[in-house]
Amino acid sequence: MPLKGEVTISGSKNAALPILSACLLTGGWHTLDNIPKLKDIWTIKEILSNLGAAFEESGQSLKVNTDNLNSHIAPYALVKTMRASILALGPLLSRLGKAKISLPGGCAIGARPIDLHLKGLSLMGADINLEHGYVVANVDKKLRGADIFFDIPTVTGTENLMMAAVKADGITTLHNAAKEPEVVDLANMLKRMGAKMNGAGTDTITITGVKELYPVRYAIIPDRIETGTFLIAAAITKGKVRIKGCNGDHIEAIIEKLLDIGTEIEKEGEDLVAIGHHTIKSADIKTMPFPGFPTDMQAQFMALMCIADGWSVIREAIFENRFMHVSELRRMGADIKINGGQALVSGKRHLSGAQVMATDLRASASLVLAGLVAKGKTEILRVYHLDRGYEDLDLKLSLLGSKIWREKQ
Ligand code: UD1
Repeated sequence: MPLKGEVTISGSKNAALPILSACLLTGGWHTLDNIPKLKDIWTIKEILSNLGAAFEESGQSLKVNTDNLNSHIAPYALVKTMRASILALGPLLSRLGKAKISLPGGCAIGARPIDLHLKGLSLMGADINLEHGYVVANVDKKLRGADIFFDIPTVTGTENLMMAAVKADGITTLHNAAKEPEVVDLANMLKRMGAKMNGAGTDTITITGVKELYPVRYAIIPDRIETGTFLIAAAITKGKVRIKGCNGDHIEAIIEKLLDIGTEIEKEGEDLVAIGHHTIKSADIKTMPFPGFPTDMQAQFMALMCIADGWSVIREAIFENRFMHVSELRRMGADIKINGGQALVSGKRHLSGAQVMATDLRASASLVLAGLVAKGKTEILRVYHLDRGYEDLDLKLSLLGSKIWREKQ
């Protein structure tokens, strides 16, 4: 059924996680607006609480106080479900000079090492050891500025080192840094706290350590992956959806591809209006660091290509093993062949509803999108993956007219 109506985009998960971690850098009450209500946010709050942070919640705003940090440990029980827990490492080293963080888990989409985070921190003077599944890091006196070259642009690695550097002695330069809007959002929050830095959003970020930081009020940017997911929901159902409160500049690569395949998209202030048409053309994508096509939208775009006219080639160039949704989409009738890091998708007229298993956060979203247009009923198991990163996706989709509901497993 074509989706119709309006949907409001929540705050960005991937911006909120480092920004909440940045509250560890200094005491006082920070107020964060536009915090999404998600499982990953709950997890980072648990990690911060465990370190001694206090919270007051009111609607989409969250007050955070880290005056009384009484631990430097992020235990396995909390970290295992979310890789971004490693974002506590940089701020704890800066504030307490020590940190013990369980090695992260998170989405099962490849090896996902943290070697570049650790290499950068050791160049800044941290002594780092891996012991019993934990990263154990200590600094003798204070972190010191350093020239750091990332072999690969890493989003959370860039964010961790930015937070480590804001109060370090001297100047830190991050070369080949990640340019994602979430990195820029963190930089804006840190600058408001009193940090001295420039270059966020380019591949070279320079940070001059300051003596003091201050608590601030800050509003998180809208979630670009949620925005992209709703654009695809409009395209795949051939509906018309007004997506409110988003930033089109953050998803130009997605908009370009959707225009190519025949979706109409109008920017109206902070809204995007997407109109899906009967014919969906095929398209090739390759995932890239920002401003390229985001890996976090690859699975959702593949669902769309499953019903496009002709062949599409989808190359995953950021994470190996990020095609776990393929076998589930095939269960719904999709024709997809995997060849190394690329998927060849032959579009079909229809998908058919089936029981499928969600395997990671964005894969779950792709199964939901496929289910919106599959003939018959689609039942998605392990849907808890979805709750890590989408606020009320089922509710938002049902308000747009889709028949979607939750059942207790
Ligand atoms: C972040 C996002 C995630 C997104 C990903 C890529 C958050 C909380 N998560 O994850 O949603 O899918 O960016 O846009 O913001 N790498 C190394 N060594 C390292 C770090 C990374 O080799 O120390 C590699 C990774 O295996 C991967 C690439 O670098 O191939 C990019 O990963 P990275 O940007 O670090 O992903 P995350 O920050 O974990």
